[in-house]
Amino acid sequence: MNSLISNLGSSNIFWHDCPVEKADRQKLLKQKGCVVWITGLSGSGKSTLACTLGRELHSRGKLSYILDGDNLRHGLNKDLGFKAEDRAENIRRVGEVAKLFADAGLICIASLISPYRKDRDACRALLPDASFIEVFMNISLEICEARDAKGLYRLARAGKIKGFTGIDDPYEPPVNSEIEIKEKDGICPTPIAMAGEVVSYLEEKGYLLD
Ligand SMILES: Nc1ncnc2c1ncn2[C@@H]1O[C@H](COP(=O)(O)OP(=O)(O)OP(=O)(O)O)[C@@H](O)[C@H]1O
Ligand SMILES: [Mg+2]
Repeated sequence: MNSLISNLGSSNIFWHDCPVEKADRQKLLKQKGCVVWITGLSGSGKSTLACTLGRELHSRGKLSYILDGDNLRHGLNKDLGFKAEDRAENIRRVGEVAKLFADAGLICIASLISPYRKDRDACRALLPDASFIEVFMNISLEICEARDAKGLYRLARAGKIKGFTGIDDPYEPPVNSEIEIKEKDGICPTPIAMAGEVVSYLEEKGYLLD
């Protein structure tokens, strides 16, 4: 079987069109499929925002699905580590899955550190019509480290975890994110306020139809 697959050149693989299309699914769901891609340091509140946003959309009758970096590493990405090429493959797979969810008509919320700009931009390039909405959690390392919800910063500072983003591995902030969540004088917006910002954006851009 493997040899059969490896003998198939891409020129021998064809796209099979299906009768029900994205537009039909969007009409059924009364929403437009898109990807809300939340990026930022560990502890910046990505999963918190994803869950609060998911609940808010659900209460408005909108279908969303969360692809959370940690959760996906339990299954789809459990064979990958944290070196640069593994991180790139991790993001590539999530980008492809997110694209499928958006094509299904869902509001796909991807929450991953996704530290490298090139990897995030490759996911953006997969999505048509500006339907990749990048949310930058612009929360300082000081705040993230003080939270240290998983105790990972402490381990990284002690040298017990190597290649930890923000400590001894880089984080490349987005240059043109659609939404930026910022602290003000060291105070972060509440989870409800963060989710509200994203919902307002989705409403304004016509992703939530009624
Ligand atoms: N807006 C906020 N205000 C106050 N506390 C917050 C806020 N957002 C998140 N937190 C708290 O910060 C901690 C880290 O949040 P969260 O787990 O969402 O981060 P994360 O970005 O998903 O991190 P990781 O990349 O490690 O998964 C949690 O204890 C959470 O309750
Ligand atoms: Mg998280």
